[in-house]
Amino acid sequence: MTSIAISADDFGLLQGKVALVTGGGNGIGSALVELLASKGSKVVFVDLEEKQSSALAQRLSVKYGKGSVNFIRANVLDWQSLRASFEYAFELFGTIDLVIPVAGILETRDFLEMELDPVTGLLQEPSYLSFDINIKGVMNTVKLALHYFSKSPKKDVKRRLTLVDSTSGYFGGLGQLSYKASKHGVTGVLRTLVNYTEQYGFVINAIAPSYTETYMMGPLKETWAQQGGPKNTPEQVAAAIAQISVDPQAQGQCWLIVNGKLTEIEKKIQSLAPVWCGEENLAQLGKGKQILDFIGNYPLPKKREVFNDHENDAKL
Ligand SMILES: NC(=O)c1ccc[n+]([C@@H]2O[C@H](COP(=O)([O-])OP(=O)(O)OC[C@H]3O[C@@H](n4cnc5c(N)ncnc54)[C@H](O)[C@@H]3O)[C@@H](O)[C@H]2O)c1
Repeated sequence: MTSIAISADDFGLLQGKVALVTGGGNGIGSALVELLASKGSKVVFVDLEEKQSSALAQRLSVKYGKGSVNFIRANVLDWQSLRASFEYAFELFGTIDLVIPVAGILETRDFLEMELDPVTGLLQEPSYLSFDINIKGVMNTVKLALHYFSKSPKKDVKRRLTLVDSTSGYFGGLGQLSYKASKHGVTGVLRTLVNYTEQYGFVINAIAPSYTETYMMGPLKETWAQQGGPKNTPEQVAAAIAQISVDPQAQGQCWLIVNGKLTEIEKKIQSLAPVWCGEENLAQLGKGKQILDFIGNYPLPKKREVFNDHENDAKL
């Protein structure tokens, strides 16, 4: 097991960095915003929720200096408002060095609950809000990050993107089907984007926290405490995010955090591929990878005619 000690030694590297954090108004995000500001970073954070976010920005600006922490109300699912917050940060500081998409929610209705329309008796369409926020919101943020990284000066400095995954991005288990599917998607974003770090000149990593005491864990809190379940504090998770965001060795890594302890899991899983995938399959898949490496990308098919004929279907 590759355990990593939480260490504040590298935090000096956060001094003077410009960070954009989504979901910075509460929980892990607000602990992160405060940590970054305390280490001398300039922070722009985005959140949907206005009251606590404004109060946080105000409090931290008094503590760490006027303009050090800036709140913009935006929805990570709304391209225009999210893009405007990146534009704001870039205009304000002339660079964006660090992007951390923290915004995420748990579904509030079990996907497997078969809810029937009271009038027709037909099965209702499920809500995809949490799935969308956790994966589409992250992809929106990632795309904007790469664009603004490339616009930022000092090309020799590698910009950093740190994803907030979850143990739900690596394991199955009971419940939270939408959440787990979306977080597995975040793992996919990490595994794909790590192949483009040279081309776009950035560093990408992720952290995967287990149970962390925030709003989303409210309904579990009492039983979890009674049963002595392992838990992280938002501050421990924020420290892990900050640490991986400056770690000079970390690229394509994911740090699991359980009970405040860090363990690298992504490189470990890759190193075990011959075991779970089989040597022969791996050799065959390796040939496919060589072909794509030879082409230099993954060639995409044209949109099927049917989508041109039925415009509304293409919008779904
Ligand atoms: N709490 C845990 O146990 C745990 C474990 C693993 C991973 N995570 C991840 O950590 C991240 C933060 O979670 P948290 O526990 O701090 O939750 P939280 O509910 O305390 O905070 C989430 C924040 O995101 C904001 N947000 C939600 N939807 C948004 C949107 N569409 N646009 C902008 N802002 C939005 C909320 O307003 C809130 O301020 C999430 O990605 C979550 O999946 C949490």
